[in-house]
Amino acid sequence: DGDVFKYYADGEWKKSSSGKSVAIINPTTRKTQYKVQACTQEEVNKVMEIAKSAQKLWAKTPLWKRAELLHKAAAILKEHKAPIAECLVKEIAKPAKDAVTEVVRSGDLVSYCAEEGVRILGEGKFLVSDSFPGNERTKYCLTSKIPLGVVLAIPPFNYPVNLAVSKIAPALIAGNSLVLKPPTQGAVAALHMVHCFHLAGFPKGLISCVTGKGSEIGDFLTMHPAVNCISFTGGDTGIAISKKAGMIPLQMELGGKDACIVLEDADLDLVAANIVKGGFSYSGQRCTAVKVVLVMESIADTLVGKVKAKVAKLTVGPPENDCDITPVVSESSANFIEGLVMDAKQKGATFCQEYKREGNLIWPLLLDNVRPDMRIAWEEPFGPVLPVIRISSVEEGIHHCNASNFGLQGCVFTADINKAMLISDAMETGTVQINSAPARGPDHFPFQGLKDSGIGSQGITNSITMMTKIKSTVINLP
Ligand code: G3H
Repeated sequence: DGDVFKYYADGEWKKSSSGKSVAIINPTTRKTQYKVQACTQEEVNKVMEIAKSAQKLWAKTPLWKRAELLHKAAAILKEHKAPIAECLVKEIAKPAKDAVTEVVRSGDLVSYCAEEGVRILGEGKFLVSDSFPGNERTKYCLTSKIPLGVVLAIPPFNYPVNLAVSKIAPALIAGNSLVLKPPTQGAVAALHMVHCFHLAGFPKGLISCVTGKGSEIGDFLTMHPAVNCISFTGGDTGIAISKKAGMIPLQMELGGKDACIVLEDADLDLVAANIVKGGFSYSGQRCTAVKVVLVMESIADTLVGKVKAKVAKLTVGPPENDCDITPVVSESSANFIEGLVMDAKQKGATFCQEYKREGNLIWPLLLDNVRPDMRIAWEEPFGPVLPVIRISSVEEGIHHCNASNFGLQGCVFTADINKAMLISDAMETGTVQINSAPARGPDHFPFQGLKDSGIGSQGITNSITMMTKIKSTVINLP
């Protein structure tokens, strides 16, 4: 069937023996846009076997050569930004310009990773024994970083390309092989991205990309004995994966409820601009989106007024027109968001705009006077709906932030750096941004979540390190 995109294994594009496919629904038209292969467990087994043997040779490939291939892939990826971005528009309704940005950012990430890799992997340690009590200077220890083996990468729908390469590039530079399971929405963009690595000329079998239903191959992949490391970004499936996975390093980023604490002395124009960008870009479908505003009561009216004025200017419509607000990824996601909105309505939140929905398209909505008994105060909508909770003390804001089961990022707006530092220390999140909305990038910054937001730390340097193991050789003198 020529209509079904092939999966990638052993350096070739293949049809699955299942004869089945998975449909990718365009969020805007709600019609089938593409189809991908529904791979079988036997196909996964084969991919793993090949990945294992390809890795052995790759680990012996000089580091500079690995870097050279990654630079090549990065250049090819950037050259092909238009067709890949087109897939992102059709599969996940990412606004056209943001879709291009995602691909370019991905190329830059791959290049940076190659550069960083040759530096940090080119260094080891040398230790001598006589610093530890009872030892003479008779033992010399040499350490270096060695690859883990096969890395399994599972990125989410909201960055099918960028959050795939943020796992692929560190894995490869460190000498691992890579098996990618893209999200269904975004799988075709991911397959195109993989083709760029194919064109760069990586050895056969080093990179594979299997597509299919999570119910068929999800657990099979994550519990596969050949997998030596899992890097996952997504929802609470990650918690289930971490419970079932074997004794292997895990890197997980599982969402957040990023709070924005606003103090009386903050520059409210700056705050409003960051709330709108942070809360509504890609229609709120970012784990680092501002997901709750905690504002001091005395300035709340002014701030809400400013945010409202900016929300009114957001364009709403199809991603092809580069609208700010585009349809959310699926009907079930839109229904979930609507459930949170209706719960808030029933419990008395103030609607700053009228709630409006057409298909998967939800108009941006600011909910004021949200209270802790409303679901929206705690749950992440992953949509263009932002709650405002008015607080009477900074402590109340910190308390709300820390009572969340999530702890990804948070932000605080104030002109007083001393207060900002104290609040940053008190917030139980992986990152606190002072006077800016939460964000993962620049992509070499460490990125990590506390509590249900994940384990391990990402960012280029941390990911490379995480995908290696320390190996020591000790020279013993007589
Ligand atoms: O959705 C989760 C992403 O890691 C967020 O990345 O801050 O660049 O949008 P971003």
